[in-house]
Amino acid sequence: MMKYSVEEYVSDLRRITAATSDYDEIFDQIGPLARKLALAKESWIKPEYYETDAEQGFGVHVLHQEPDHSLAVFVVAWSPHQGTPPHDHGTWAVVAGMDGEERNVKYDRLDDRSRSDYAELEERCSFSAGPGDVICMRPRGVHLVHNETDHVTTSIHTYGRHVNYTDRVSFNLETNEATPFILSIK
Ligand SMILES: [Fe+2]
Repeated sequence: MMKYSVEEYVSDLRRITAATSDYDEIFDQIGPLARKLALAKESWIKPEYYETDAEQGFGVHVLHQEPDHSLAVFVVAWSPHQGTPPHDHGTWAVVAGMDGEERNVKYDRLDDRSRSDYAELEERCSFSAGPGDVICMRPRGVHLVHNETDHVTTSIHTYGRHVNYTDRVSFNLETNEATPFILSIK
């Protein structure tokens, strides 16, 4: 069994982010470690990390955050056939699939970002991400996640800042509205 703990991962995150703030370097270095943490889940996973939030459609389990909210690591457990609206993160994000397949759709923003409450999005690509697959996004990268399976899926989400403490937004594809996207964390 591969061994890698959340504590070791956080220690690696601190070392990497202290040495660089370049997104490509962060993704090159943290991506493989997020994958390693996902594939080593037997050494740290707890049953409660599979609990979902019926109202939200997914459960958020905080594995770590720094006292000033910089660096945050969550396990997100997705209810069957539930997901998020398109959203950005307001910070860099590294997502590693852990259990099951999750559909990701990435979008380009076509508007000039002159309004905080308005956005025009165009779908760029969509793909399925499974155990060990890693997705990296810059602060204004837009995607949605949807669990299209009949089972709870999980993934590890690592952020340069806890996303309830950034200016991130979610998007309504019908109305082009952009609104703050705050997670319910129980
Ligand atoms: Fe996201």
